[in-house]
Amino acid sequence: MSRVTDLSVSPVQEVLDAAHPCWLLLTQKTAYAMRLDESGRLQHLYWGERLGQPQDYPGIGRPLARYERDHLAMADDEYPAWGGFTYSEPCLKVTFANGTRDALLRYQSHRQEQQSTDLTTLIITLRDTDYPLEVDLFYTVIPEYDLLERRAVIRNTGEEALTIESALSACWQLPTLSSGSYRLTHLNGRWNSETQIERRALPTGRTILESRRGLTSAEANPFFAIDFQQGEYGGATEEQGQVWFGAVGWSGNWKISIDCQSYPTRVSIAGGINDFDWRWQLQPGEVFSTPPFVAGFTTSGLGSVSYSLHGYQLDYVLPRQHAQKPRPVLYNSCEAVHFALTEETQLELARRAARLGVELFVIDDGWFGQRNDLRSSLGDWSVNEHKFPRGLADFIARVHELGMQFGLWLEPEMVNPDSELYRAHPDWIYHFPARRGTLQREQWVLNLARDEVAEYIFHRIDSLLTTYAIAFIKWDFNRPLTEAGWPDELPEHQREVYVRHIHNFYTIVERLRARHPLVLWEVCASGGGRVDLGTLARFDQCWTSDNIDALDRLTVQEGYSLAYAAKTMAAWVSLPQKSEQASAFTPSLSYCFHAAMPGTLGLGDDLRSYTPAEMEEASELIATYKSIRHIVQDGLLYRLISPRHNACTAIQYVSRDQEEAVIFVFLQAAHFWDLAPAPRIFPRGLDPSGLYYLDGPLDEKGPISGQSLMSVGLTVPLTGHFASALITLTQAPAALTAD
Ligand code: GLA
Repeated sequence: MSRVTDLSVSPVQEVLDAAHPCWLLLTQKTAYAMRLDESGRLQHLYWGERLGQPQDYPGIGRPLARYERDHLAMADDEYPAWGGFTYSEPCLKVTFANGTRDALLRYQSHRQEQQSTDLTTLIITLRDTDYPLEVDLFYTVIPEYDLLERRAVIRNTGEEALTIESALSACWQLPTLSSGSYRLTHLNGRWNSETQIERRALPTGRTILESRRGLTSAEANPFFAIDFQQGEYGGATEEQGQVWFGAVGWSGNWKISIDCQSYPTRVSIAGGINDFDWRWQLQPGEVFSTPPFVAGFTTSGLGSVSYSLHGYQLDYVLPRQHAQKPRPVLYNSCEAVHFALTEETQLELARRAARLGVELFVIDDGWFGQRNDLRSSLGDWSVNEHKFPRGLADFIARVHELGMQFGLWLEPEMVNPDSELYRAHPDWIYHFPARRGTLQREQWVLNLARDEVAEYIFHRIDSLLTTYAIAFIKWDFNRPLTEAGWPDELPEHQREVYVRHIHNFYTIVERLRARHPLVLWEVCASGGGRVDLGTLARFDQCWTSDNIDALDRLTVQEGYSLAYAAKTMAAWVSLPQKSEQASAFTPSLSYCFHAAMPGTLGLGDDLRSYTPAEMEEASELIATYKSIRHIVQDGLLYRLISPRHNACTAIQYVSRDQEEAVIFVFLQAAHFWDLAPAPRIFPRGLDPSGLYYLDGPLDEKGPISGQSLMSVGLTVPLTGHFASALITLTQAPAALTAD
């Protein structure tokens, strides 16, 4: 007879059933259930809506019904190790010292840890039946956001080394479907068009989302969302429908492998560090820890997916020093002046930026060594005295006098062949003996797996941060890994480079943050090539894309917003008529600002070309942004109208107390001019009984009830190509609401 535990007590429930010990992990709205089978195998039971009683879940406190047993057939291991009938993607593949190549994991023990008042972790230890191998499975329950964060720790308890060939973080299993099918949503792209939303029916077989480039990549992002294919169950919308979703926190080669069998449809999603060209020697007594793979379930559509992941990032993932602080408005001239950096031009730009209300002035590529183009000086991180004859400290002092903070660009993991560093240490780059190697962007990747390289980088940056009053670092990574060889290392360790590189990358940033806690860090990889939960745990924001065209940005930012919080999304204003990215249609200055405001605002134009009228308008728009940025950066996002299949786009943020909201509306193109109706939008997330005043280009000024706004909608009188509006909603005081 099972002992039923009160569901309200703890997010981790142990249900004592003589035959099958079970665990129930409970979030506010979801539940996740596992049990041990007769042989001590940890078996997945359930992941979905939270139900009333433990007995409501299949296999808990009652025998499994026949149909439930069928569904739990062979591939339902919580952490499938390669061996036996495991033909789906295994989470673990090892070779023991005697050549045995499978692992048979069975329950050994479990324990709970309390991370904080809100976070509990269940740790289940599995052990190989015959060989000295243990695996700790970590399940951290994040109740408020309906998420589970999983990772694994693999331990060699023997006296000989073993080889890990694959060690994924977790495997998630979806409910078996006897009819209908699933649909996959993910983020793909390339340089200049990152985080594009792709949605397709999940085919039978294996679908792999991955990077083999040594970085997260612009081509694919480690995020997935799966809902039902249109039809019997209906696909999820922004507000409705069941969705299972997740993201891997790893910034190197990663993989999400989705296995889909048919008759009936069974889906499992295994993910973590990519096993491609990777091996890891685990010495006696050593452990290997995987990165986290966080996932969740919702019945409230894709909007709720973003709600959960954004809240999780703001409350738990982002570095704590700056997580609650507003991100400053920055200026960076890299797109405007490229390598034509001089103290005078930078000062002129700084004066203009300060007049606009910019808070952080950033110098990008070209300030160091002999860097006058892409060909030289990466690795030589000392100030170019020709460009800054009075020294960088003097320049920074002037930036401070103008009332702004100062930031600097670095690309620490790279070296140009034409550099002091490369001449001194040609063996510090990844390479294979006798091969010429593939030079890209005139640069090599430093072998950061080597600890002396990591030390060099740490000390160079530490020295810069100690010498100069630097408040912001933009950390770039502009080419992927190729020929990732490490000839000086023993052959059995050479394929560890992909992971050792990322471990050292993380460690350097963590050490620098500890020594310079006030510095704000932005991660960049030729645009948005390093956007993931691993970088977000160590960087405060991400450079989203090198494409700063306002129209293109709407889709890039929409995809970004699916998985990542607005506070982390650097978005620049760039007027096409002032940049190389000019197109046939030229949106107005306010359109470009509005397109950049749904994230962390920055400016990238050559401000010397701004007319007095443009300067004035830009400064008003920056002041407006400052007045709403707390709503954007810390509020809740509602994607009202997607830019993907519509001529109009609308994005709304609501403060967590529902007292304020801001809506950005864009008319990309007006078809059939005056015959086209003005866009009508339906705000969401407002307090239905609250009364709201409206500000923006509207006939209505309110107060109007939240319920009316959400049900009746708002007509925004936009006409013409590239028209935009910013609308703010402010709740009337309670007394007025009561009347
Ligand atoms: C990359 C970045 C840009 C800029 C340049 C500098 O392309 O994405 O923002 O920093 O490098 O060379």
